[in-house]
Amino acid sequence: MHRNRRGGGRVRLAVAGAATMALMGPLIWLWQDSLLPEAYSVMDMGYADYGGGRRHSSSEHDAHTGGGASTHGGHGRGAGAGGDVTQLIADADRPADVEVTMVARKQRFQLASGRAFDGYTLNGRSPGPVIKAAEGQLVQVRLVNESVPGGITLHWHGVDVPNGADGVAGVTQDAVGIGKEFTYRFVADQAGTFWYHSHQMSHEQVRGGLLGALVVEPARRDEVTDVVALVHLYNGIRTVNGREGDVHVKAAPGSRARVRVINTEYGVMPAWVSGAPYRLAAVDGTEINGPAPVRDEAVGVAAGGRADLEVTMPEDGSPVRIHLGGPTGVVLGSTSYDAPSVPRPAATLDLLAYGAAAPLAFDPGKPDRRFEYDMGRRPGFLDGVPGVWWTINGHMYPDVPMFHVAEGDVVRMRIVNNSGEGHPMHLHGHHAVVLSRDGVPAAGSPWWVDSLEVGADESYEIAFVADNPGVWMDHCHNLPHASEGLTAHLMYEGVTTPFRVGGPAGNEPE
Ligand code: C2O
Ligand code: CU
Repeated sequence: MHRNRRGGGRVRLAVAGAATMALMGPLIWLWQDSLLPEAYSVMDMGYADYGGGRRHSSSEHDAHTGGGASTHGGHGRGAGAGGDVTQLIADADRPADVEVTMVARKQRFQLASGRAFDGYTLNGRSPGPVIKAAEGQLVQVRLVNESVPGGITLHWHGVDVPNGADGVAGVTQDAVGIGKEFTYRFVADQAGTFWYHSHQMSHEQVRGGLLGALVVEPARRDEVTDVVALVHLYNGIRTVNGREGDVHVKAAPGSRARVRVINTEYGVMPAWVSGAPYRLAAVDGTEINGPAPVRDEAVGVAAGGRADLEVTMPEDGSPVRIHLGGPTGVVLGSTSYDAPSVPRPAATLDLLAYGAAAPLAFDPGKPDRRFEYDMGRRPGFLDGVPGVWWTINGHMYPDVPMFHVAEGDVVRMRIVNNSGEGHPMHLHGHHAVVLSRDGVPAAGSPWWVDSLEVGADESYEIAFVADNPGVWMDHCHNLPHASEGLTAHLMYEGVTTPFRVGGPAGNEPE
């Protein structure tokens, strides 16, 4: 949020007459009422929404969460009664399996293509290093801010980390100022494709290059050519792994290749394949059950989302092109990389009916909470700035709902988009399964998401198990939208945060 600090002097108005006052009075009130305080806790934001579930008072906390340890992935620690987010961390005694130090700088640098760009780097480059871990390993990343003004953080997009490692400035930590550092630790307990990015002034820092890929490999690895394809626009120039134009990767005839597509941009990115059929092997880090071969259909990758495309290379040695949002992308080949671009297919794969159905490990039919996340838009003031701003359930930021849950709850959420524009919705710390779209039930593979494109006039029902205590953002990943107020939080009973948005650390998560 761009904040205009309160207390910048009293507003003086030359009032021409009573008639003017009658008009201006309510406007001034609305303007003043919209100003955000210099520092505030997200816990005090908006109004509580218990989703029809149990309300809790602080005295109840002790009764219900006392001594309760998190079982989430075996790596979290329960908040217990009155626990705060800094206690929600990976086992401090367990040594790291993967250790990375990342030094962040603001600098002019050269993309892999040679083009110069003014932005941010991690270890001298953008995207930052690809972090690789095997399923179950403990990842430890030491983030050092050498020269990024305003501070930085790292958020592990799609990884259900313990809340204390979620990297949201003002919610789970303070922004890391110049000369300071912060260490993230989490167990990579789900194999899949993920990414990381700053969650301090994210609409500016992510665009500027503070991001990278994270790949968690399955314990049992197949014989497959594994390719990361992180798509990012630098000054409007589309790149794959920081490179303009095609990325060539060697893949033998008859062999299999998995291309891990990561969309770090703000809108849906179509990906399609020419030269061979493909299977959509995974979405948002979760394998699709029984993915059938796809021809002549593109897959829409939500902003922040990932899609793993798997192809079997043609026996005749001809190359295969993975188009990423346009004519260029990844070309897989052995002797030749001369794969012509083909136009985007007219049809887009519908994930609501893709793959084979399979039972869920929980029953979304009997939820403990039901929430509504209804997005709209109306004129008003956001922190004193007039505009047509996003609303959640009819309320404008910061008067938005705080979704309250207790550990173990089965949660259903209906996301409705009446705002006239599409929004890629991202819930931190959890994966949710899609139950239906516009009332049509999901019929294919369980479709687990952490980044779900909800188009204009669409509605989705999703469900998840509240198994990861903390205070978690639930926002639009079109990051300017988040900074324009399309941000709410999910809060667990008994969990508190000592951090503040604003304040001396200058925390500005969006
Ligand atoms: Cu990819 Cu709230 O973030
Ligand atoms: Cu949006």
